[in-house]
Amino acid sequence: MLRLGVNIDHVATVRNARGGAYPDPVRAAKVAEQAGADGITAHLREDRRHIMDEDIDGLMDALSVPLNFEMAATDEMQAIALRHKPHAVCIVPEKREERTTEGGLEVSREENKLAHFIAPLREVGCRVSIFIAADARQIEAANRIGAQVIELHTGAYCDFHAEGRFDERDAELERLRDMSAFAHSLGLEVHAGHGLTYETVQSVAAFPKVKELNIGHFLIGEAIFAGLDPAIREMRRLMDEARA
Ligand code: PXP
Repeated sequence: MLRLGVNIDHVATVRNARGGAYPDPVRAAKVAEQAGADGITAHLREDRRHIMDEDIDGLMDALSVPLNFEMAATDEMQAIALRHKPHAVCIVPEKREERTTEGGLEVSREENKLAHFIAPLREVGCRVSIFIAADARQIEAANRIGAQVIELHTGAYCDFHAEGRFDERDAELERLRDMSAFAHSLGLEVHAGHGLTYETVQSVAAFPKVKELNIGHFLIGEAIFAGLDPAIREMRRLMDEARA
């Protein structure tokens, strides 16, 4: 079965706009669980622009489904992950000035450093995922450093779709499909995400080697119009339809 991880970062974005406690990302995570999410994803950024440390505490206490803790490869984040021991950690590149995670991690340039960085996380039982572009060099490097999972960055595919650049979209989709099969052939578990919507999800959900999709911004946006529970159920339905 194709798993759906719901990213609740932008519930915290709305909360932080007023600086209070509402809306609560933990409550959103519980709604997501009820609506059929197989996991919850939260990205604790260095600048705490959305998810905050207390949210991670709350999620660890409240969730019945696994938490996928997204983080940059910094000592501070490693210490937090080692303290909480979430089911999974996903290592992402992070730049202060970006609005969202713009590209995949350059694993091949920093193999040694990343291998040492993820080893203790694996030792405490976290499944380690590396967020990368659909690039064979990065996939091979992720495999060499001992990651169990890669998450393929679908942002470029979704951007091309939104901009009507359909030839480039289709080329990127083909790369994603080929690279999902390549990563699987190396023994890596393959996830995908970033920018996925009702319009773009099915092409990726149809890749037979992809095991999990992580989706956030669109679902939280759609929740304004339809409600969070129906938005997640519709995403789930589209994923299942594509997979069938
Ligand atoms: N996967 C990873 C690794 C991400 O960094 C993000 C964004 O935080 C997502 C998935 C979800 O992307 P979106 O919010 O655009 O659905």
